[in-house]
Amino acid sequence: SDSQSFAGKTVLITAGPTYEAIDPVRFIGNHSSGKMGFAIAEAAAARGAQVILISGPTSLQTGHERIQLIRITSAQEMYDQVFRFYDTVDVAIASAAVADYAPANVAAQKIKKSDSHLTIELIKNPDILAEMGLRKNNQFLVGFALETENEEENARGKLERKNLDMIVLNSLSDAGAGFGKDTNLVKFITSDGITEFGLKSKQAVAADILEFVQQGTLK
Ligand code: C5P
Repeated sequence: SDSQSFAGKTVLITAGPTYEAIDPVRFIGNHSSGKMGFAIAEAAAARGAQVILISGPTSLQTGHERIQLIRITSAQEMYDQVFRFYDTVDVAIASAAVADYAPANVAAQKIKKSDSHLTIELIKNPDILAEMGLRKNNQFLVGFALETENEEENARGKLERKNLDMIVLNSLSDAGAGFGKDTNLVKFITSDGITEFGLKSKQAVAADILEFVQQGTLK
């Protein structure tokens, strides 16, 4: 819809992967494309929102005048940027595939190959979304979940533990859905229940998410 249903609202969105440096030339990353988060950003801006889009490495671009794109690399950088803005936003949507762990030490020089085995010690990254839940005052908070078993139960647990208003459960079990694809198959879970959708474009999923957020923020 072209209605300006988000006029006057500020929406913070995290998107894409994070890269965790091992040494000056290597990192631990993942296959997130950022497409879902960028689609939500475009949809929110089209509805009149001021958008802060904090994205990990992706080839995607955006030209909308109401989207402030902040590019970061690591989970810690994403964390720092999110909490520069979080207190002032109306809605926060965490679609980023944040690395759960990062190398404990970043080697100053390129690691040489020598022994047959190499061990890299990892330490847990901050859970950005969980921290947003803890610091929530009036924000409508949306998270994403990708589960391989007990999908709905695990997603519901995340909704409660992270103090979210809604969680978007991504299906892994569909060929057209997920990482790098242009389509997604999702369920929305709130404390009120669950809503299932068919396979659709990430643009259409973004529109559904914003529709839901708008209904939720009216309450
Ligand atoms: O706990 P889990 O990683 O499955 O939760 C996924 C949700 O949490 C996603 O919305 C993701 O963007 C967010 N997340 C985060 N920071 C992390 C890990 C996940 O914001 N370190």
